[in-house]
Amino acid sequence: MLPEVGTDVLKAKDLLMQGECVVIPTETVYGLAADALNSKAVARVFEIKNRPNFNPLLLHVSDIVVAQQYAEFNDLAKKLARQFWPGPLTFVLPQLKESKIAQLATANLDTIAVRIPAHPLAHKLLKKIDRPLVAPSANPSGLVSPTTVEHVKESLGNKIAYILDGGPCKIGVESTIIDLSDPKKPMLLRPGGTAKEEIEAVMDMPLATTDDKAIKAPGQLKSHYALSLPLRLNVLRPDEDEAYLSFGHTSYPAYVMLNLSPSGNMVEAAANLFDYLRKLEAEAKLKGLKKIAVAAIPNEGLGLAINDRLTRAAAAK
Ligand code: TXA
Ligand code: MG
Repeated sequence: MLPEVGTDVLKAKDLLMQGECVVIPTETVYGLAADALNSKAVARVFEIKNRPNFNPLLLHVSDIVVAQQYAEFNDLAKKLARQFWPGPLTFVLPQLKESKIAQLATANLDTIAVRIPAHPLAHKLLKKIDRPLVAPSANPSGLVSPTTVEHVKESLGNKIAYILDGGPCKIGVESTIIDLSDPKKPMLLRPGGTAKEEIEAVMDMPLATTDDKAIKAPGQLKSHYALSLPLRLNVLRPDEDEAYLSFGHTSYPAYVMLNLSPSGNMVEAAANLFDYLRKLEAEAKLKGLKKIAVAAIPNEGLGLAINDRLTRAAAAK
């Protein structure tokens, strides 16, 4: 079934509030948007894009007041926001403790990436919905980012219900990402729609660059995935001193356990993953258990990303 295409912001809002993904225009590229507070909706984004791992996503917000409900703005961030927002510049900032962003959206990091897009239709939608949206480029993983509705239809056409049509994207490359979590050492994480020199001129200091690996995959660093208890994978029967993260309806019973998805649904499992790992860890410690055992997760669809995450967590300890 081909997606509906139109400029109905209220329709887009309703779908998003129901946990659906909607393609939205921005000034940089078209984004596959979902409610950043709804972990299942965020899991669907990864599923639709067929991403093999859970990279952290960036938040799109209508104004700095909303941004400040999730990220802690230092003076440098405020100054740059005044100068460049709305526009193709994304800040990585410390995430507020009370932030209710789905953990899957931030890959469980304690920082968060945020921007205000300049496209009028995106802005109208964000204003109406009054909550942050994640919106990675609306293309299957590994393909180029779409800058027209036609591109989106070609690659994701049968997977989405609605495309908000904002015409061709003016900028055509993704936003520039800078890490301002340490204002003394601002770093360029991804070059993009805002020139480095322009940012440096406003900051009156140079932007540091990191090595390539860290730029491309900040969410991939082992330390981001470390739990304080060791993780044992592909476990059919947990030991007595293990809490159990199970999956599917035939799971072995355990004293402390959580089931990622009793019905074996991958979207549900991905949505629960980070939250359940944290909960299990806390509960295991409370009960004096020493390890977390994890059931085998089928390596298909979102299972690839789930297993990527679990393997990293197991290796980090
Ligand atoms: O132009 C854009 O920015 C497009 C349009 C649609 O707005 N959106 C976009 O979103 O590119 P997304 O979610 O794909 O961008 C995610 C980028 C990734 O490179 C990710 O590694 C980085 O932001 N990122 C997200 N959170 C981060 C964090 N806490 N620390 C470092 N990098 C982060
Ligand atoms: Mg992309």
